[in-house]
Amino acid sequence: MNWLTKTLTSSLGQKIIMSLTGLFLISFLMVHLTGNLLLFKEDGGAAFNAYAHFMSTALIIRATEIILVLGFALHIYIAWQLTRHNQQTRPQNYAYNRPDANSSWFSRNMGVAGSIILIFLVIHLYNFWFQYKFHTEIPLAAGTNYKDMYWLVHVVFIQEWWFSILYLIAMVFLGFHLVHGFESAFQTLGIRHKKYTPFIQKLGLLFAIVVPIGFATMPISIFINHFF
Ligand code: HEM
Repeated sequence: MNWLTKTLTSSLGQKIIMSLTGLFLISFLMVHLTGNLLLFKEDGGAAFNAYAHFMSTALIIRATEIILVLGFALHIYIAWQLTRHNQQTRPQNYAYNRPDANSSWFSRNMGVAGSIILIFLVIHLYNFWFQYKFHTEIPLAAGTNYKDMYWLVHVVFIQEWWFSILYLIAMVFLGFHLVHGFESAFQTLGIRHKKYTPFIQKLGLLFAIVVPIGFATMPISIFINHFF
């Protein structure tokens, strides 16, 4: 067990955990985005509701949820520890200590973007997960015995429109976080190669643009469809 404690508390070990949990969360984002695209299916929400019901009840998803919560918790806790450690050991006021010249804006602001995503996540879970589990006034989806999540998504994005704005702001920061996070996760894991690194960088950039835009299209299109 000693090696495990040592790994978990060493700076390199912590960075490896950050990378692994980050990649796991990235894979969650892909699954979540793909499922949410069912919102665009013109079937009155039937497919989306069936998917949301499956996500909230299937045993395999419940088990994955525990890993997801642990993944988020570890990622956030270690990010906080690493930031504290870096602040304590950072050389002060030397001419060579020019963060703006030595690192990208995205990498220097990972903590800010991460904190905004965390705030978004708490609000988001309250909007959907919490309401689905504990709010009894959500109507049942037509012809089913499960709650109408499609209806709830529309209520949140239209009636409580300020959430739509908040979601859009959060997606900008999600993009910033992913630009650096994606590439950095591979680097920390030692996946660095003349041939593959440029490909990973491009893939990371594409991911950081496509995923937040994909999520952002949901409040935007629901809003536009309703009002125009
Ligand atoms: C506008 C875009 C989004 C919509 C419409 C949306 C919708 C939903 C809905 C309906 C649920 C509850 C049912 C389910 O598990 O599928 C949910 C859960 C969740 N969402 Fe989102 N989501 C969006 C964006 C995001 C983003 C960007 C993140 C992460 C940064 C995220 C993280 C989560 C998490 C962690 C859960 C709980 C998962 C679980 O219980 O298994 N969502 N979302």
